[in-house]
Amino acid sequence: MTAGQAIQPVYVNDCSIYGRAIAGGGSRAFRKRANRDKARFMILKVARLGHPAIRTPAQAIDPAMIKSPEFQRLLDDMVDTMHEYSGVGLAAPQVHLSIQLAVLEVSHHPRYPDVPEVPLTYLINPQVTVLDTATIDDWEGCLSIPEMRGVVPRYKQLRVVALGRQGEQLDFVTSDFHARVIQHETDHLKGEVYLDRMPNLRSLSHLAEWQRFVLEPTQKRHTPAGKTSSD
Ligand code: NI
Repeated sequence: MTAGQAIQPVYVNDCSIYGRAIAGGGSRAFRKRANRDKARFMILKVARLGHPAIRTPAQAIDPAMIKSPEFQRLLDDMVDTMHEYSGVGLAAPQVHLSIQLAVLEVSHHPRYPDVPEVPLTYLINPQVTVLDTATIDDWEGCLSIPEMRGVVPRYKQLRVVALGRQGEQLDFVTSDFHARVIQHETDHLKGEVYLDRMPNLRSLSHLAEWQRFVLEPTQKRHTPAGKTSSD
């Protein structure tokens, strides 16, 4: 999922290895660690709507494989990929893997302080129970449906049971924006996308028009008198 406000999704044409930008030389140990990170930084290719991977229900993951180096590496790659495209969540089917895995994180964005923060979370084999069936409408985007935004109703509160990064049991209650991100990502694990959750498509907008006719008027309304919010 992409944050409603923050997004400029870009696509690479193939898997590529990028070096992290390392400022300065630092100690020998630092350089060694930097070189290791450089080799590990992997951006995965993101599947777009129309690729069968997006519509294939994902299989449960064998907990015995979670601690394997290969799986741990995949978790790192998914987080790197989510960050690269300014996503707030990424599900394994979006990187062509039909397994029940999603990562999510929303960190403070100085230009858009209104987006609530969500800690970096790994969800393996998640099971979601709706605790509050009231729904909230808000805008969503998706890295697999680039340059589009639409209003999606989501349940207000959920209980989430899943395995975490090291296979530990997770069991928590979440609400509002955090619950929205989890509903979006767990839909991907069922082969569903946010368009399927829209009661109608009348709000569906291209990103540039959405920024012009939805985001900018909203920012103006919220801007104190005498100040502008051009960025
Ligand atoms: Ni998505």
